[in-house]
Order: sequence, then C-alpha cells, then structure tokens
Amino acid sequence: MVTNRTFTMLKPDAVEAGHIGAILEKINGAGFRIVSMEMTQLSRKDAQKFYEVHSERPFYGELVDYMSSGPIVAAILEKDNAVADFRTLIGATNPAEAAEGTIRKLYATSIAANAIHGSDSDENAEIEGSFFFAKRAQY
Ligand code: PPS
Repeated sequence: MVTNRTFTMLKPDAVEAGHIGAILEKINGAGFRIVSMEMTQLSRKDAQKFYEVHSERPFYGELVDYMSSGPIVAAILEKDNAVADFRTLIGATNPAEAAEGTIRKLYATSIAANAIHGSDSDENAEIEGSFFFAKRAQY
C-alpha cells in the first residue's frame, strides 16, 4: 500500500458559510488523516504566488481576488492514493458538473466559489503543502 499526501484549502465561501466542520468530517470519514492544519487569510500577493501557474488564464484576477477575500483553512492530508482519491471526494471544478455526494456538489455555489481545493499531482501537493507549512512541524 502506497501512503502519500495531498494538500487542500477550504475556500472563503465554505468558511464564511460555516461548513468547516461538515467538510472536515467528510474528509476524515473518507479515511484521510490530517497531518497539518491552519486557518489563515491569504494576502493578494500570497494568492498570486499560489495560483501563478494559472496567471495566463482569463479568470486569474478573479481567482486571486476571491482567494484573498476571507479566511481559508489549509491542510495537508495523508492516505494511500491521496491525490487521486481526494480529487474524487471533492468532485469536478464546476459544482454543476460535480457528482452527487462530493464536497463541491454539497457545498460549492459556483465555479469560482467552489468550496475546496485539492492538489492535482504528488509534485504539486508537495509544493503547495510547503507553501504553507514548510517552516512548521508536520505530524
Ligand atoms: S484544476 O483543478 O486545476 O484542474 O481546475 P481548473 O479548471 O484548471 O481551475 C484551476 C483553478 O481555477 C479555479 N477556476 C476559476 N476561478 C474563477 N473563475 C472561473 N471561471 C474559474 N475556473 C476555474 C478553479 O476553482 C481552480 O482552483 P483550485 O483552487 O485549483 O481548485
């Protein structure tokens, strides 16, 4: 069994709507262990850097504004096949296309305010986790 890690953020819409507890329960219920976790707010500069890979896309400005608009919860999660299984758990980027029972189907309100982020590769999980937690203890 391969054990690996992914990185997630509960986005400002989900935090503002009071869904932190319900979403964490779903994450734990799906077998993920929380390795590190922090509630914080991204500055515009942080959000620009985190989403730099999307800087040429038409929605980049909107994404940066939104992700820096309010508190988020960042976490590193551990489970075998973590990246792929977590992407399945959260559902499609656009909640209108997300499968029944996924976190985005349940809690996202639009393609921009889509409740939760999940890394798309092991490499990005490592980069994104380090962006938040490199200087702190991980368990
Ligand atoms: S993914 O997960 O990278 O395959 O998804 P992708 O569709 O490439 O989108 C990358 C991130 O951009 C967000 N996004 C948007 N934000 C605002 N407006 C629009 N139209 C939009 N389309 C996509 C999407 O939620 C992804 O954010 P993260 O945090 O990576 O999930």
